[in-house]
Amino acid sequence: MGDTGIQDDWSTDSNEAVHVSLVTPGQTLHTFHPKFTYPIFGDEERIFGYQGLKINIKYHVCDMRPVVQITYNRKFKPVGETEPTDLKAILEDFLPKTAFEKTAVFDAAIADPSYTTWKPPGELWKTIQSGSQTLEVWKGSLADMAVQQMVKRMQILVPFFIEGGTMIELREPEWSLDRWTVFFLYQKNVVDVGSSSSPYTFMGYSTVYRYFLYQPIAPSGSAPAKKQPIHHEANLDFKLPLPEVPFSSLPCRSRISQFIILPPFQGGGSGSRFYNAIFDYFLKDPTTIEITVEDPNEAFDDLRDINDLARLRTVSKFSALRINKNSKPRSKGPVPRDIVDMDAMERIRSKMKIAPRQFARVTEMQLLSMIP
Ligand code: ACO
Repeated sequence: MGDTGIQDDWSTDSNEAVHVSLVTPGQTLHTFHPKFTYPIFGDEERIFGYQGLKINIKYHVCDMRPVVQITYNRKFKPVGETEPTDLKAILEDFLPKTAFEKTAVFDAAIADPSYTTWKPPGELWKTIQSGSQTLEVWKGSLADMAVQQMVKRMQILVPFFIEGGTMIELREPEWSLDRWTVFFLYQKNVVDVGSSSSPYTFMGYSTVYRYFLYQPIAPSGSAPAKKQPIHHEANLDFKLPLPEVPFSSLPCRSRISQFIILPPFQGGGSGSRFYNAIFDYFLKDPTTIEITVEDPNEAFDDLRDINDLARLRTVSKFSALRINKNSKPRSKGPVPRDIVDMDAMERIRSKMKIAPRQFARVTEMQLLSMIP
């Protein structure tokens, strides 16, 4: 048999081989496959050296404590330099060390009766009632060790579900980690009296970071600088002189970096509810000037457009917006001011903290939807 034959016989599709499960003591609630595994197993998304391979990443449904179970029917015997893929060595870069403990240790740990009173890390931001379902949104700083532990446990989900998504480097200094706010979405179940399980089911999470934002400052002794739209932004650059006030009190763009709803909970409106809860939080945050999104994909763009449009339509001036048909058509130059009242629009935009390009996009959706 040639090399190609060996490769075919002993090669497995890594998206098929990996199973992610959400479990409670003695019960598997949901199992699903990752969408992508190329950042972990290479561009071909194949694993060499096993037959009947199954890599089960089991997560305790509330605190996302993981355990990895690797099973197979046959393993390739090394020939020269041709060896089976070292799965543990590869996965160790994406999961905490404890994920490789014995399953019996994991089973005993998640059966601890203290889980009945377990609470997600951080603080409760919002409770959302959707029919008979109760959702809770928890939030905390990435500098908080309990939040960090959750992120460490589950951030393999980023390469699994966000194309081109990268995991957060958790070894940064505390002040730098504090730029990140992590939101967790949970379903809170009614549990039977006497049950030893937690009422919490993890559904998804999102990370948001503060993006430093320059504002014009008036020279001392002169009149305050005229308020202008802010266009300049810069990532924190360690070579810049650090401001004397804490970053958390400086004006910023709050940028949604990663946003994941686990597959069993997608398509039922949970992503929208979660997005709106995060938006509501930053609308209330006095230091956030704009809420932006880092590299949204098509699905997230849709979710964002639908929800931003619905939010803006609650503003009467926005929902009354119509194209002024008397305005003269022009082929080039800036948008004519007589099409819509641009100053009023800018006031709505900055009050709603929507970034200029996104606001223009949603405004266009509104105008087009109003053409009889
Ligand atoms: N009942 C039924 N369907 C509904 C309801 C409802 N009550 N509410 C909304 N929907 C529909 C929406 O109209 C939408 O339909 P469409 O798919 O035809 O456009 C669909 O359900 C999705 O909307 P939601 O349910 O609110 O969103 P969901 O919970 O599925 O989350 C998301 C969407 C975040 C993209 C999710 O699929 C996901 O996590 N995917 C994998 C990771 C990912 O792609 N994340 C975004 C990357 S970009 C970034 O991170 C910045």
